[in-house]
Amino acid sequence: MRQGNQTISEFILLGLSSQVEMQELLFVLFLGMYLVTVVGNGVIILAIGFDSNLHTPMYLFLANLSFADVSSISTSVPKMLVNIQTKSQSISYKSCVTQMYFSIVFVVIDNFLLGVMAYDRFVAICNPLHYTIIMHPRLCLLLTVIPWFLSNIVALTHTLLFIQLIFCDRNILPHFFCDLAPLLKLSCSDKMVNELVLFIVGLSVITFPFALILFSYICIIRATLRISSKEGKWKAFSTCSSHLTVVLLFYGTIVGVYFFPLSAHPENTDKIGAVLFTVVTPLMNPFIYSLRNKDMKGALRKLIVKKRSSL
Ligand SMILES: *[C@@H]1O[C@H](CO)[C@@H](O)[C@H](O)[C@H]1NC(C)=O
Repeated sequence: MRQGNQTISEFILLGLSSQVEMQELLFVLFLGMYLVTVVGNGVIILAIGFDSNLHTPMYLFLANLSFADVSSISTSVPKMLVNIQTKSQSISYKSCVTQMYFSIVFVVIDNFLLGVMAYDRFVAICNPLHYTIIMHPRLCLLLTVIPWFLSNIVALTHTLLFIQLIFCDRNILPHFFCDLAPLLKLSCSDKMVNELVLFIVGLSVITFPFALILFSYICIIRATLRISSKEGKWKAFSTCSSHLTVVLLFYGTIVGVYFFPLSAHPENTDKIGAVLFTVVTPLMNPFIYSLRNKDMKGALRKLIVKKRSSL
């Protein structure tokens, strides 16, 4: 942090609404979404952890995604809920930077994991005979460690650039957490480098997994069309459609909000985008992946039976 009389010690988070009745509604809504996300993803992690049938790459990646989702929503929503309850809107500079760092980490991890999961489905459907050879445990571990590593590098880069910025007297953020793009708009320093890095890093972080996903799905669709039995076609399609839903939800919002980060976007676009991909995506993932999946349902049943018999 640059010391000096021109920088500020705290930010004011205006949240999603300034109306009191609206705040109460938002509190209930976001508390509900937070609890459902934590429980839903927690159950996925436990179910996969306890069922050795599900110790396959696809489910281990899914467990990693669930973990990243819970962490992602936990960076923003609890602080927002506390602020509504205590009627305080401030967040210290250090907390704000910390929140920004971790929100970047988990969004980037989500991004990479979606790419990894698409690659996994690609190998499983387009190269089934070599699946176990290609996706051996060491590669799987690598494919989960790399996203964690890269996302921390990305977050560190943005954070180191961010703390160089000076905030003259503008510290009022019309947002519900310390999100990088709206924060940059407040600074009175020259933000050229920050914006450029946000754009370039953002572009590459999004493009690389997206290309992987696109490539995988072209192969998957071609392979699916070649399957002759109707049942087999349906099975391949339903495994991938849940993944495709998440991917579309996630990239649709990210592209809308972050590809054109500091242009003439109204503030509401920022907020809606942030709600969609830091709150709604983590909330939806457990349902999209588990409700239509027989193996997951079986694992959930086993988990419940185990809990009962141990009581
Ligand atoms: C993430 O994946 C790795 C290997 O692919 C696995 O060992 C680990 O248990 C997973 N993490 C979670 C939280 O399930």
